[in-house]
Amino acid sequence: MKLWGGRFQDRTADAVERFNSSLGFDFELYPYDIKGSQVHVQMLARQQIISEEEKERILAGLEVVKKRLEAVRKEGRLPWQAEDIHTLIEDLLTEEIGSVAGKMHTARSRNDQVALDIRLYLRDQIDKIQAKLIELLELFCELAAEHLETLIPGYTHLQPAQPVTLAHHLLAHAQRLCRDLERLKNCRQRVNICPLGAGALATTPFNIDRQWAAEKLGFDRPSANSLDTVGARDFLLEFQHCSLSIMLHLSSLAEEIIIWNSPEYNFIELDDAVATGSSIMPQKKNPDIAELIRAKTGRLAGSYQQLAMVIKGLPLAYNKDLQEDKESLFDSVNTLKQVLEVLPVFLRGVKFNRQKMKEALSRGYLNATELADYLSSQGLPFRKSHQLAGKAVNYALSKNKGLEEMSLAEFKELFPEESEKLTPELMECLLPLKAVSSRDAPGGPAPCRAAEQLENLREKLNRHRKETEN
Ligand code: ARG
Repeated sequence: MKLWGGRFQDRTADAVERFNSSLGFDFELYPYDIKGSQVHVQMLARQQIISEEEKERILAGLEVVKKRLEAVRKEGRLPWQAEDIHTLIEDLLTEEIGSVAGKMHTARSRNDQVALDIRLYLRDQIDKIQAKLIELLELFCELAAEHLETLIPGYTHLQPAQPVTLAHHLLAHAQRLCRDLERLKNCRQRVNICPLGAGALATTPFNIDRQWAAEKLGFDRPSANSLDTVGARDFLLEFQHCSLSIMLHLSSLAEEIIIWNSPEYNFIELDDAVATGSSIMPQKKNPDIAELIRAKTGRLAGSYQQLAMVIKGLPLAYNKDLQEDKESLFDSVNTLKQVLEVLPVFLRGVKFNRQKMKEALSRGYLNATELADYLSSQGLPFRKSHQLAGKAVNYALSKNKGLEEMSLAEFKELFPEESEKLTPELMECLLPLKAVSSRDAPGGPAPCRAAEQLENLREKLNRHRKETEN
């Protein structure tokens, strides 16, 4: 049945019907649509816009409709056609309870109804995503705690730069994701505003109670402007941005896993349970999961862009363009949930090869900055120290050894003018663990600082966990 047939004499062309329908994808919203209708109908009865008896019949009917829709969802095949999920639910309700079903839509339009549905859906999904993100972050903390003194090369330009620890490296990823968690929490505040009562665009003459409905549905407050309410989708765009940010960060992590898993690096090994093989090359152990995460980031970037183009240039208030906000939203939510589901499993299957990481430290002169810093601490201007350290690297290269393998006598010979400044302490500074430990400025890689960082992060996560559980 159509919700709008009254002024039409001819039937809609089949192609138009098919093109116009959103049921193929907005079926996903049915639990939220029903929830919204239940509260709306209760509000109508409280305000004596419909009778108690009508309310009871509608609520009972909605329960039956919900069960029918649940059964169909399990089967995975829709036996009905309708313009959208809102129309379908009213059709099915009419089948159950007759024409009184038509009272459900009093003081409401599909415009505020659909805005309500996507806000309820998204709030629910944000809560699920937040919980998964917290779990992932807790895993990062667990891994970091095990590797506070595991040395690895730190890179800039993917060139070995200075030694850091694996804990510091993992915590860097965790910090990014923690900001994403906060972004998501922030976005939720703008999602959690109730559109119900905005009507088609100009509210309603009925004496509705927007505040009551908003509270009953767990919203912070009713929306402020009805025109804005039915046409606004910036809360979705914000969510798309939050999701994209998470995926961009995970794509960096995935990329590193892929590089570290290559035989050239060999920093990690993948458990059989999380690796894949090649159908032709028997020696292969591939990081498919990391590669898929890297690639799926593109879907979320696409979704962000798609929604931005839907919103662009739309005049107030509701336009049918807005029906196109859903598929990309569902895709982002589902992709993100899948990724956050598999990633912890995958990470638990990653074995870090401490020996290989340590060996990598002895290639690439990662302690050259250490040498320069040491000379500066003895009173040389840093520019001069930098020059001398460069000279030492050249020398060591010609001898095919590391700076730490040079003797104090060799350093003295190389820098005769600074000879009295060179003490055995220099040789100690050049040792990687010493180098890392000396970088103990707040936020630095020194194990004591990383432990502090870890503690702060854990506290933050505990707070977030408590908040999301409430
Ligand atoms: N299927 C529509 C959507 O997703 C529901 C709202 C329809 N409103 C309307 N005035 N045609 O946006």
